[in-house]
Amino acid sequence: MENTSALQLVRETDDFVASLIAQMDLAEKIGQMCQIDVAGEALSEELKARLSAGEVGSIINQVDVELVNEIQRVAVEESRLGIPLLIGRDVIHGFKTVLPIPIGQAASWNRDLVEAGARISALEAARAGVNWTFAPMLDIARDPRWGRVAESFGEDPFLASMLGAAMVSGFQGQSLRDNGSIAACAKHFAGYGAAESGRDYATTNIPENELRNVYLQPFHAAVTAGAATVMTSFGDLNGIPCTANGFLLRQILREEWGFSGFVVSDWDSVFHLKVHGLTADDAGSALEAAQAGVDMEMASTTYKQYLAQLVEQGKLSESVIDQAVARILRLKLALGLFENPYTEPEALPAYGNRQALDVARQTARESIVMLKNAETLLPLSANTLRSIAVVGPLADAPYEQLGTWIFDGDSALSVTPLEAIRRRVGPEVEVNFFQAMATSRDRNTDAFEAVAEAAGQSDVVLMFLGEESILSGEAHCRADINLPGAQAELVRKLKAAGKPIIAVILAGRPLTLTNVIDEIDALLFAWHPGTMGGEAISDLLFGDFSPSGKLPVSFPRHVGQVPIYYNHKNSGKPPSDDAIVHIDDIDANATQTSLGMTAFHLDEGFRPLFPFGFGLSYADFVYANLSCDKQQVRLGETLRISAEVSNQGSCKAIETVQLYIRDLVGNVTRPVRELKGFRRIELEPGQTETVTFDLHTDDLAFFGRDQQRVIEAGEFRVWIGGSSEAELETGFSLID
Ligand code: GLC
Repeated sequence: MENTSALQLVRETDDFVASLIAQMDLAEKIGQMCQIDVAGEALSEELKARLSAGEVGSIINQVDVELVNEIQRVAVEESRLGIPLLIGRDVIHGFKTVLPIPIGQAASWNRDLVEAGARISALEAARAGVNWTFAPMLDIARDPRWGRVAESFGEDPFLASMLGAAMVSGFQGQSLRDNGSIAACAKHFAGYGAAESGRDYATTNIPENELRNVYLQPFHAAVTAGAATVMTSFGDLNGIPCTANGFLLRQILREEWGFSGFVVSDWDSVFHLKVHGLTADDAGSALEAAQAGVDMEMASTTYKQYLAQLVEQGKLSESVIDQAVARILRLKLALGLFENPYTEPEALPAYGNRQALDVARQTARESIVMLKNAETLLPLSANTLRSIAVVGPLADAPYEQLGTWIFDGDSALSVTPLEAIRRRVGPEVEVNFFQAMATSRDRNTDAFEAVAEAAGQSDVVLMFLGEESILSGEAHCRADINLPGAQAELVRKLKAAGKPIIAVILAGRPLTLTNVIDEIDALLFAWHPGTMGGEAISDLLFGDFSPSGKLPVSFPRHVGQVPIYYNHKNSGKPPSDDAIVHIDDIDANATQTSLGMTAFHLDEGFRPLFPFGFGLSYADFVYANLSCDKQQVRLGETLRISAEVSNQGSCKAIETVQLYIRDLVGNVTRPVRELKGFRRIELEPGQTETVTFDLHTDDLAFFGRDQQRVIEAGEFRVWIGGSSEAELETGFSLID
């Protein structure tokens, strides 16, 4: 369309869509509501027949661009109305060039980098013919047993909202019509991360107030950022599976948020409605999903089989079909598919190009969180080291370091830690590699004695531990989140050899490290760092960059503490460090009492091993002079909160300065701390910067007991610091 005003464009779009729908028969309309899986398929006669009959609105899982173009050509040139297809693919954290898993990207707290990563991923995916992806995943994750914590942005709604919006912008670019822009999909709507016991697909029970104040926040941010589509969760939410949940899909998404894009089911999740026990048969499932507001069915075929019959029986209004088809056509129009349905791969950057690799390396650097550095063992100096022992099953695993949900990742592009360390230290330093275990789950300790003996001859031991990529991600949950296999024994064995132990952990989730943390002298948590993970780890180990990652999720001391998260409610008997009773300190025949007891575990207390927002640096950041520009703020005003941050260390480094508040009294109870701002600053040694946050009273809103958004007068506490346990505190009053 030529350059026209927005209103003109909308009018033209609406006219175009309305005129096209008017020409469609019911079967063609329903065809648009069907996404079919074509993984591994050629362009069979059967597929050609379906395409030319207009029975398909989208395909998923085909990334051979020539074949994609062939399939598109049949849909466009051999069907009656020539409506182009949406080409869907999961591009969760990269395509050929792989970025850190999203939980790792979240640890960077770097919106610009998350956006840049989504951008390079979109460009690579578009080169394969993809024009729609199923990301960002915005499920709040407070349970590290759940495998999909790997794909999440962690436990905090504010951080997940910021990063989810950034990822939407990265995928969709300035305009969906731009070459290389692909439609985003905010998923899984909603509350999927609250699956009982951290088992994927399990039931979720979330009170509406918690749903609104926590789980829905990132989705609202993504919709506000213009996410083109939303995907329903597999989960049963409070007795009504999300894929049939009109409260979510109509009241929240459409009526309250004004979402104009379209809703796609998750894989077979319409068919699952019968399995949930919500419907008696597939026709009932199609009816429930369509009426609730699912515009497109992914993979299962209940829409194809039953929607026409339901309309003819008068059970489903054709207007519901028309609305769904209109939303789908609008996206195809917005993507420019009616003018340019085909992909010219050469018009897009090559896979694994320099820019992509540089973004992957910087993102990996900033995603790594230093959790321990006893006696500032790190950074290492290649000039003083004579020999390094590199030990463990994940030191040289080019595929495993890519992480979960990598259908198209090219492990040939991977640089492993072993490769990067060898290159970094050069031939003068001896680097001896000992795999020690076949996999992370190996329980065979036969090699440990010899490895400890040999490693003991080196100046330092670098251990690469954790989980392979398949141990997290969809459907891969763990009840025990310790290091798998005999890794803890390996750590102890090597510690006994008497040399400093540096551990780099690659995993798709927080692990319980309590049983090894004392034996480890320095610890970098690298998540699954992607293609350039080895280079990034080496950059940090040798001090070319300082670690700057901050945890986007709490690390429990013990899995029995789960769910454990920083923005919890106070309860009526909150625990405190000075009132803990330890299980070993209780006398025999102890009198039964609860007096003086509070909300803690006798064997693990109440604190995590590492809190949300925590991460060490090679620098030494000191916070001082926290102040608010006024002690009282009126509704509608902005409060300016500032603090001085000094780098009292000896190297330049990035620090993510975090702002937390606490609303002391609310008409529903409020969290003991809430992240309300963060700022990444880079300080030279000796440099001091005043960091300022402007907090508008709108930022203090929450959903009250009537489920309406409210801002209440009252007292607030404020903290600024380098983690959710920041101690620098002040306060202000919000007055009517
Ligand atoms: C999967 C996932 C969803 C993904 C979809 C398509 O089952 O739940 O996140 O986008 O199917 O692969």
